[in-house]
Amino acid sequence: MQSYQTLVEAAKTFATEAANLVRSSRNEQLSISSKSSITDMVTDVDKAAENYLVERIHQVFPEHSIIAEEGSDHKGSSEVSWIIDPIDGTTNFIYGFPSYSVSVGVRTHDDVVAGAVYNIPENALYWSGKGMGAFKNSSQIHVRDKVAISKSLIGTGFGYSALRRVAQAKFLASIIGEVRDIRRAGAASLDLCFLAEGRLDGYYEAGLWPWDYTAAALIVREAGGTILGPTDEEPSGELTIGASNLELADFLRRKVIPFLPFEED
Ligand code: IPD
Repeated sequence: MQSYQTLVEAAKTFATEAANLVRSSRNEQLSISSKSSITDMVTDVDKAAENYLVERIHQVFPEHSIIAEEGSDHKGSSEVSWIIDPIDGTTNFIYGFPSYSVSVGVRTHDDVVAGAVYNIPENALYWSGKGMGAFKNSSQIHVRDKVAISKSLIGTGFGYSALRRVAQAKFLASIIGEVRDIRRAGAASLDLCFLAEGRLDGYYEAGLWPWDYTAAALIVREAGGTILGPTDEEPSGELTIGASNLELADFLRRKVIPFLPFEED
């Protein structure tokens, strides 16, 4: 198997190249269709960026597997998998709301060893390798120092099923009086990177897919934060919680569990 360093460098390169493709396609006429619901959109640029990433990974690592948001999955002979989201925050990309990214994570068995998340509107690359720390471009990043729950700024997101969104909003209403405030910026991978660099104190969402959080969860851990779920022992097996400290992560988990599972339409 390649060294972690090789995989980290490749993840950074592929995410940056795909981000350039996405950025340069933004002013073209987008072709938009819907997926799981009318609110769940995909564009020709998502597909082109995914094809680009898949080709690059195949070129350099033909034996690796790929798990990709728009469906270009590939089962390779090696134990290494690439988990890719060609555009996380597609709605923002379409509207020009400045929070969308390319996310590239690399896993061996169940261990995530490399992650790169390119924040396209900000032109910044978040990245990490297992045991290497977390970085934004060339600067090391860290979660905020211990923050009290009452002073914590919490990010979240909503799924694409109407029923699930209503349940998610009810949970949100149950914590908004106990924390400093809530943010919903629209790209889970970036929300987690914002947590890693101290722009948020915590983040939770139920129902994320691996391509939304794999790369960014490594970045949070390597920045000194805590990630709970979806492999931990919460009942629905579908929750992603990130926080700058364990107390805050526990608070979010304790509060959300009575609301789970968030049913879908
Ligand atoms: C979505 C975004 C959003 C989150 C949704 C995700 P997509 O990813 O990350 O913030 O709330 O759950 O599905 O569809 O833009 O790649």
